[in-house]
Amino acid sequence: MANILFIIPFLLIIVKASTGFEVIKPIPESIPVNKEKAYLGKLLFHDPILSKDGTLSCFSCHDIYKKCGTDHLPLAKGMGGAEENANTLTVLNAIFNFAFFWNGRAQNPKEQIIFVFRNPLELDISRKELERRINNHKLYKQLFKKIYGVDYITEDLVADAIVEFEKTLITPNSKFDLYLKGKMKLSKEEEEGFKLFKEYGCISCHNGINVGGNSFQKFGAVIPYKWKPWFPDRYKLTKNDFDKNVYRVPSLRNVECTYPYFHDGSAKTLEEAVRKMAYHNLGLELPDEEVKLIVKFLKTLTGELPKYEK
Ligand code: HEC
Ligand code: HEC
Repeated sequence: MANILFIIPFLLIIVKASTGFEVIKPIPESIPVNKEKAYLGKLLFHDPILSKDGTLSCFSCHDIYKKCGTDHLPLAKGMGGAEENANTLTVLNAIFNFAFFWNGRAQNPKEQIIFVFRNPLELDISRKELERRINNHKLYKQLFKKIYGVDYITEDLVADAIVEFEKTLITPNSKFDLYLKGKMKLSKEEEEGFKLFKEYGCISCHNGINVGGNSFQKFGAVIPYKWKPWFPDRYKLTKNDFDKNVYRVPSLRNVECTYPYFHDGSAKTLEEAVRKMAYHNLGLELPDEEVKLIVKFLKTLTGELPKYEK
């Protein structure tokens, strides 16, 4: 049983190898977005009014301009500086993932945001209090009336506007996507790195539009990774031993700047993350030269990042 998760990805490689079909898809240059709702969502994303003690906003942990949608901390710092039990996932391209959070406990992006509101270490705010604050705020009152046509702003609409903003946080035109579209060549080293990524089977778990984000897999599929009960893995949801250290595979888009890595933030550099992945999930001890080549390829996944504008 324990190996079923592990086998599925390898079937995928066989499919890929036999069809020549590229299993990584480029990020579209844009996706349909309601601009007014997204603008409102952007204001909310940056506004600490949404946190119980008025100190944190989404942006506090997800710096989309300078830190690729993360905080660059091993574990997030929540309310009052308390340490959370997980490394911050990026919000960039998150909209393309099939489930949200390290263990996929939220099924859709709106549900994800409601979890953030209720999390005692994140925004820690009740629906009642959130709605009281937003409905007493003159600008939000006007904007929601104008954009959503409502006199009373519900928590659901607040989350809806933030989701609309998240749709603008996509990073198209990475070197790799331009290569997939035939508009640019990879360097020889980048190309070799991509070849290793495919041949070793990294691509069996890291594929699709986000080069990850579309399946649950074990960290330690071949050589076990030490399990610590406080991290948010699938076991927390299912209580099946089999789900210990099973996580939603993170996206490798912009991975060069979403450090540190893993659910526990234990890998400081991309080199270290690649080495540990190859060891625990493929049973390989990669020579330094190959680690370097794979990292060169991974750096081609950095796209156009959101720019700060008022
Ligand atoms: C105190 C820091 C903190 C704050 C504030 C915060 N987040 Fe997060 N965010 C995290 C951490 C840590 C995770 C991963 C937690 C987990 O998986 O258990 C995460 C995960 C996410 C994800 C999931 C990404 C994925 O790939 O599944 C999204 C989307 C997100 N946050 C959006 C938001 C939004 C929107 C807000 C504001 C309403 C917000 N966050 C506020 C720390 C924070
Ligand atoms: C069996 C599935 C599987 C295979 C094969 C696999 N990975 Fe992963 N990868 C994962 C999972 C699951 C995680 C999340 C690990 C964690 O934090 O618990 C991950 C995390 C990562 C991360 C860290 C991302 C982050 O933001 O924290 C990198 C980098 C990475 N993998 C690269 C690779 C490379 C390179 C290979 C091939 C040498 C590879 N992976 C093979 C499933 C896989």
